Amino acid sequence: MSEVFKRAAAEYAVAFVRSGMRVGLGTGSTARFATQRLAELVRLGELTDIVGAATSQATRAEAMALGLTLMDDALPADLDLTIDGADEIDPELNLIKGGGGSLLREKIVAQASRRLVIVADDSKLSPHLGTRFFVPVEVLPFGWRVQARYLTSLGATVTLRQAQQPFLTDQGNYILDCQFGPIADLKGLALALQARAGILEHGLFLGLATDVIVAGAQGVRHLP
Ligand code: A5P
Repeated sequence: MSEVFKRAAAEYAVAFVRSGMRVGLGTGSTARFATQRLAELVRLGELTDIVGAATSQATRAEAMALGLTLMDDALPADLDLTIDGADEIDPELNLIKGGGGSLLREKIVAQASRRLVIVADDSKLSPHLGTRFFVPVEVLPFGWRVQARYLTSLGATVTLRQAQQPFLTDQGNYILDCQFGPIADLKGLALALQARAGILEHGLFLGLATDVIVAGAQGVRHLP
């Protein structure tokens, strides 16, 4: 059922795209529906002059296979709109992202976008970030155990993400999944994470989402 909700949210968001727009293409199973729908509308000629910016190698490969035109990785222009998924969404539209490991590119694209539309099924809504998901933290492999100790000192239970070997991001870095529980001070934690050499990015996306499209048994809702 959640696949139906994910698709409904994604397709609702694609209706915001207009011909001529530069569109950030998110990563994950929900954003994927948006990329597919966008490509379909381009193929049908209902949208023209669309240029995408992929938030991961996986999304780039999929978008190219679907025939979408993509800008290069230097991101030579700002984006009109990005459609991406999330792992947890609070009532202020703050997010945890990075369940798929693409948080660094996702945040770069989000910050380069005039509008960030998050698409999700309603299981992602949460009263308080940290309640239902861990915070993914991308770290340089060099010195990663130092960062793991630092994250533990901040109150997290830390797990090195594994995929047979340690999981590698598109940049060749590690992900430390940090279980904090409900996070009392989001900004304080974000600052503590940003302050540390070797921590390249974290999955707290604070004040970036302009819209959240959430779908569930009651239908599709557009927040705020
Ligand atoms: C990828 O790194 C993530 O930020 C995804 O956007 C997030 O994990 C949501 O993925 P799903 O749509 O697959 O749940």
